Amino acid sequence: AAIEKGGYEHFMLKEIYEQPDTIFDCLRGRLLPQTGQIIMSGVDNHIDALKNAQRILIVACGTSWHAGLIAEYQIEELCRIPVEVEYASEFRYRNPVINKGDVIIAISQSGETADTLVALESAKEKGAFIFGVVNAVGSSIARLSHAGAYTHAGPEIGVASTKAFTGQLAVLIMMALKIGYAKGTIEESRYLSLMKELEAVPEKVKEILADTSNIQRIAKKYKDASDFLFLGRGYNFPVALEGALKLKEISYIHAEGYPAAEMKHGPIALVDDKLPVVFVATKDSYYEKIVSNVQEIKARKGMVIAVATTNDNIIPGMADDVMFVPDTDEVIAPLLSTIPLQLLSYYVGLAKGLDVDKPRNLAKSVTVE
Ligand code: G6P
Repeated sequence: AAIEKGGYEHFMLKEIYEQPDTIFDCLRGRLLPQTGQIIMSGVDNHIDALKNAQRILIVACGTSWHAGLIAEYQIEELCRIPVEVEYASEFRYRNPVINKGDVIIAISQSGETADTLVALESAKEKGAFIFGVVNAVGSSIARLSHAGAYTHAGPEIGVASTKAFTGQLAVLIMMALKIGYAKGTIEESRYLSLMKELEAVPEKVKEILADTSNIQRIAKKYKDASDFLFLGRGYNFPVALEGALKLKEISYIHAEGYPAAEMKHGPIALVDDKLPVVFVATKDSYYEKIVSNVQEIKARKGMVIAVATTNDNIIPGMADDVMFVPDTDEVIAPLLSTIPLQLLSYYVGLAKGLDVDKPRNLAKSVTVE
C-alpha cells in the first residue's frame, strides 16, 4: 500500500500533489496556444449543437456539481448561453423541462453515480443531446453520452475528490473557450490570452505545492473550531462551496459555503471570535467588494483566513492568516484557489487523526440511490 501511495502518507495527499501532472495531461494535445487551436474531437464533432444551444443544463452531484457551477459562470461569460446547474438527484424526479436545442453536460468522476446516470437516461429519452465530462474511461455515463471529453486525471482513490475536480475544471474551460470562439462571443485576444493562462496553470499549481508549511500551521491553529464559514464571489463562489464540502468530508467540522455578499442575509449572525471565516479573495473584478466583506467580518471579531494573490498588499494586512496563490485571469482562478483549500482540509483531518482517505459514511462512488 505504501508503494501505491508513492511515498505519500495518504492517497488524498498523493492525488493533490499529482495535480500539476494531471492538469498537464488533460491539456496536452488539446490546448495549442501556439496555433490558437483547442482540439477536442467530442466538441469539434458537435460544435453546431453546442454553439447553437438555447440553453445548457449541467447535471452532476457533489464535487462534480461544484465544477458545474464554475462552468456556469465561464460559459455564460464566454459563450453567452444561459446555463442551469442541476443536482442530478433533484433533476431526475421533477419531470424537468427539456426543449429542442437544449444541451446537457453531465459531469462525473466515476461515471457511475446512480442519480446522475438515471437523470441522464430520462433526459436522453426526451431527446436531449448529452455531453459527458467523465474521468473513468468506458464508464456507464461515458457510454450513455452522445459525445464527451475525458478528464484524464487517472484513477482517484481518495474518497474526497481533488485531482478529478481540477481535471473537470480544465476540460470545462477548454469547452467554454472553444464554443465561445466558434460562436464569436469571445474576442480573439482574450481567447489567446486565456489559452496562455491555462497553459501556465500546471507550473503555478506546482508553486503552490512547493511549500505547504504555512497551510499546515494554519490547519493546526484552527483544527478545534466547531464551525467554519467559506466565502467567495464570482468565479470563487463555487470554490468556497467546494472548500466547505472538502472540510466537512475530511475533518467532520461543520462548514458552510456562501456567496460573500449573501452573508448579511443570515450567516453573519454566526460570526464571533470563535468562528474562522475562509475568504477566497484573489485579485479579480470582485476584489474591492470582497475586501469590504473581510472588513465586515473583522468588525465582528471573526477570524479571517484568506486565499489571496501573491502580490496582494491589502488582504494580508486585514486577515489573521493568508494562503497565497499566483496571479491569473479570474476565469482560470478556481484551478489555483481550490488547491490551498484541499490542503487545508487534508491537514486539518490529519491533525485530528482522522482517516482522510476513507471518511466515515462516505463512498467514493454512490451507485445506489
Ligand atoms: C461521492 C463522492 C464525491 C463525488 C460525488 C459525485 O459523493 O464521495 O467525491 O463528488 O460522489 O461523484 P461522481 O463520480 O459522479 O463525480
